[in-house]
Amino acid sequence: MFTLRAEQLDPEVAADPTQYLADFEHLFESLGEERFVAFVHVGEARGRRQLHIYRDELALRGDDKSRALFDAVVADEAHHEAYTGAILATLSTKPRAAIARARRWELWRAWLRAGRLVSAAVFTWTMRLLYLCLFPLALYEKRRAR
Ligand SMILES: [Fe+2]
Repeated sequence: MFTLRAEQLDPEVAADPTQYLADFEHLFESLGEERFVAFVHVGEARGRRQLHIYRDELALRGDDKSRALFDAVVADEAHHEAYTGAILATLSTKPRAAIARARRWELWRAWLRAGRLVSAAVFTWTMRLLYLCLFPLALYEKRRAR
């Protein structure tokens, strides 16, 4: 659905293969079934809320064709949210606690990812500055060695 609409809106971007890259983390194996289903449930709920915001924005802009697409996707996400919630209720004796734990885990993961991004940027700019500042010293040492 999204690909077809994207091709209608901007065929050049829709045909770009770099737009289709995805990564994966084997979360079912690392989290276990209950925690994984709680994680998926939280993600489906967040996705539904975000897509609803896009749907409302498209309605405000008067793009009825895209809004109708998002209406269908929001309904689909609500279905995913409901059935993952139902599965979680069968897997867990405390589904609310499992959902709260999934939210905390996602927050912690977001914190780590933000830290990784910030530290990578700090390292890159520190090294650039360091090499720039050391360049005159390198020239001096090269001349002194002759
Ligand atoms: Fe979904």
